[in-house]
Amino acid sequence: MAVPPNRPARPASPLLLAPRDMPKRRTGAVAGRAALLHAVAHIEFNAIDLAFDLIARFSALLGDRGPEFVDDWIGVGADEAKHFLMLEERLASYGMAYGDLPAHDGLWDAAMATQADLKARLAIVPMVLEARGLDVTPDMIRKFEKAGDEAAAQALQTIYRDEITHVAAGTKWFAAECEAQGLPPVPTFQALVRQYFKGNLKPPFNDAAHRQAGLLPQFYQNSID
Ligand SMILES: [Fe+2]
Ligand SMILES: [Fe+2]
Repeated sequence: MAVPPNRPARPASPLLLAPRDMPKRRTGAVAGRAALLHAVAHIEFNAIDLAFDLIARFSALLGDRGPEFVDDWIGVGADEAKHFLMLEERLASYGMAYGDLPAHDGLWDAAMATQADLKARLAIVPMVLEARGLDVTPDMIRKFEKAGDEAAAQALQTIYRDEITHVAAGTKWFAAECEAQGLPPVPTFQALVRQYFKGNLKPPFNDAAHRQAGLLPQFYQNSID
């Protein structure tokens, strides 16, 4: 089985900073919107690596279902690359490029913490972090619409629609893993979140989008107290 590197290759920029050292992002102003697009581009950049790390690290463990797993996550990885390129284009409309601002260095932590357990990886990355994207993206879309940046609002709308399918893929493979191991999905998910996710799951949740992805409300109920 292939073992991917612990940290994927990174371009010389952006400068990666610890979350506490990140400059405060302004909102409303043009520079604030550009900084927001830069932050989302960085998330998408990491998401490309996360999709392919998942394939390299875990597909060989899935036996007969390996090819289906690879197909699903190659599709996700292709979406993430498309998202990154769309955001690069939007950044260019602000006279900026990816790498012009510092970026958050904590995004790979979840990948490292869960590198030995497929269930944990699926619980934390698609079912918590990408689901969180579904919670916050509608507000972001409204922010860009209000500012008259229709192109950015549309790019985020495409991302939002695609991310529902990523959460769905995560939820589907999580259920398959639980079934294979004879584990009940909801309590297993909640135990993994407690073990691997730093911080709380923050409501309000976008229940409608979670549901569309098959992530039923009971997964998040009483999960973190
Ligand atoms: Fe994405
Ligand atoms: Fe995604």
